[in-house]
Amino acid sequence: MFAFPRLRLAAVVLLACGFSAAQKLSDQEIEQRVNDLLKKMTIEEKTGQLTQYAGNNPQTMEMIKQGKVGSLLGVLGADAANAAQRAAVEGSRLHIPLILGYDVIHGYRTVFPVPLAGAGSFDPELIERAERVAAKESTASGVKWVFAPMVDIARDPRWGRIVEGAGEDPYLGSVIAAAKVRGFQGKDMGDPDSVVACAKHYVAYGAAEGGRDYNTVDISEQLLREVYLPPFRAAVDAGTGTLMSAFQDLNGEPAAANHHTLTEILRGEWRFDGFVVSDWGATHELIAHGAAANDAEASFRALTAGVDMDMVDGAYNTIPALVQSGKLPAAVVDEAVRRILRIKFKAGLFEHPYADPQREKTDILTAENREVARKLAFESMVLLQNKNNLLPLSRKQTVAIIGPLANDKSSQLGPWAANGQAADAITPLQAFRQKMGDDHVIYAKGVDIPPFESGLAAGVAPPAPASATGVKNVESENKPASIEDAIAAANKADVAVLFVGELAGMTGEASSRASLELPGGQMKLIDAVIATKKPVVLVLESGRPLNVSWAPDRVSSIVQAWFLGVEAGNAIAHTLLGDASPSGHLPLSWPRSVGQIPVYYNHKATGRPTAPDRWHTGYLDSPSTPLYPFGFGLSYTSFHYGNLKVDPRISASGTLHVSAEIENSGKREGTEVVQLYVHDRVAPTSRPVRELKGFQRITLAPAEHKTVEFTVNANDLGSYDPDMHWVVPTGGYDVWVAPDAASGVQGTFEIQ
Ligand code: NOJ
Repeated sequence: MFAFPRLRLAAVVLLACGFSAAQKLSDQEIEQRVNDLLKKMTIEEKTGQLTQYAGNNPQTMEMIKQGKVGSLLGVLGADAANAAQRAAVEGSRLHIPLILGYDVIHGYRTVFPVPLAGAGSFDPELIERAERVAAKESTASGVKWVFAPMVDIARDPRWGRIVEGAGEDPYLGSVIAAAKVRGFQGKDMGDPDSVVACAKHYVAYGAAEGGRDYNTVDISEQLLREVYLPPFRAAVDAGTGTLMSAFQDLNGEPAAANHHTLTEILRGEWRFDGFVVSDWGATHELIAHGAAANDAEASFRALTAGVDMDMVDGAYNTIPALVQSGKLPAAVVDEAVRRILRIKFKAGLFEHPYADPQREKTDILTAENREVARKLAFESMVLLQNKNNLLPLSRKQTVAIIGPLANDKSSQLGPWAANGQAADAITPLQAFRQKMGDDHVIYAKGVDIPPFESGLAAGVAPPAPASATGVKNVESENKPASIEDAIAAANKADVAVLFVGELAGMTGEASSRASLELPGGQMKLIDAVIATKKPVVLVLESGRPLNVSWAPDRVSSIVQAWFLGVEAGNAIAHTLLGDASPSGHLPLSWPRSVGQIPVYYNHKATGRPTAPDRWHTGYLDSPSTPLYPFGFGLSYTSFHYGNLKVDPRISASGTLHVSAEIENSGKREGTEVVQLYVHDRVAPTSRPVRELKGFQRITLAPAEHKTVEFTVNANDLGSYDPDMHWVVPTGGYDVWVAPDAASGVQGTFEIQ
């Protein structure tokens, strides 16, 4: 397009600064440009495109100029990003821009609820908006590629990374995966405020044995296809530009070298034309897996399986020698380079390689962005119990705010908080004081939560000391935590609100737990506060369901508040004080104990289903059912489900219509998540007892009722036969319109 390199560079800079609206390239033009570039590239330059490093030190800057780097991760800030980009665009022979990536898991600087919490909103539109905000903030800071959404289905809360995904259900997970991709990539991933999404970790990482991070996964092809793959398929169908392969072994072939999933399914069946990046060091780790003897073998396996870009370990530097020795066909390398360049073109990086430093000042942590975070935080909270309508609290009451998480800023943000700053977070204590006035709030921390001696990821910030939290210093905040103070606070108040749970660093990567008990001395604190006989609201902040089987009988109200992000405190106080009614629902089944894991609602039928004797599928010493079912969540009002209508017969190529009437049978406005479940009674392979097939959020005034209608393609009610062909079995089906996975109004229909 430009005859002289100098002129071309000047034009690139002008375009990047928005002086000209560059024409978007057509797919054909992109293919042409990619092929033109490929023809000019040496094998070292091609390898460079397949290589990502972390950070930008002088050595990487030099390598960028030599064309040996295709991507960097963790370079934050427009100036730093532009400096690295300049080395590639102006300093390298072929002027190919870098793609700069970062983990933007739940917001960039405006930190949203952790993904597991957000999933509980069952509000894909709002989740999409949140990711739009994340994309805008990331690009303002020079990040054009986010390692998100994390779409791993997880049925084991011991696994620390359950916090990063959407929970246990493949349907909900798929809806959310697609919403997140749409939010990140916007109308066009080439727009200056859009990022390239990266669905991860492909695939079945969440099935790690024993919930131990990075552990082996050995599952059937049916489970893979029906549970773990669907959210990835949804992300691909929504247009995700990239995927990240997972760390773990999958049925004997590590996910980072798994030809079946990376090529046969992803490229062959789904026609994905973006690129796949390995996870951090995962190519080199093929040696530890016992899948390769050295980096050359590891690179050969990963690349030929379908991993295009290698993250940080430099293993792909063995590629030129592999090609020269004739072991690795040059065409395999070309195809991987082609996929990466294609995304760089689509992302507009050749036209707009630089971040606009002005946007960093105007687009990050704005009031509007915080408003989206507040709304999602509010919708994510799940009311699990509310005996005697203790909630909402009245502003006239005196409230004891007790517990180690009531004023812990960094834990409000949760793990993987990107560029989030603890100082940005509003704690529950701050918000209660602000809403009720200091006279109505008595605070006592009660106990500290000590970090675990092992397993706590390095670099996790300890809770900010009270002096650094920006809240007004009062006597109790500067004193060491003491249960006596907590007892005194409860005694002086009308109601005690206990903020207990986990520190943010106790969930996330490399943060699996063998126990789901409240860590540290929190149970002692809870016992002491309950002993005061004051009514107790238990607010749980955690990245997983903790063991609270003791709680329903001992406290009045239970609220699962997860880690809600920068607006956590405001959302919690808003809800507890009744400014709105809670509407979040559980995106997972809540176990009664660790011994019950895995417990998930869409388990298969057995030959001996639950019955009131010992000769059924269950335990002698515990019910089989979870403490709270998937989809469960109360509000300050109640809803009545009735008048179910179902098409009695449909064809296998037809459409199912189901409707039910939902009435607000309580005294105040409320929002309900109405869920549709289906069960196929007889099929070629055994079927789950229920499967979510739809949901809708509806808001009703007192006494208002609404007919909620669902339309489902019969094809979406199908399943895999033993040969892994998708079939839509004829015969009888059960259907429920329900407030959760364990109840609802039930009907039947037939597929003919
Ligand atoms: C390892 C994690 O598994 C992955 O999710 C993340 O994107 C990379 N590190 C990069 O930080």
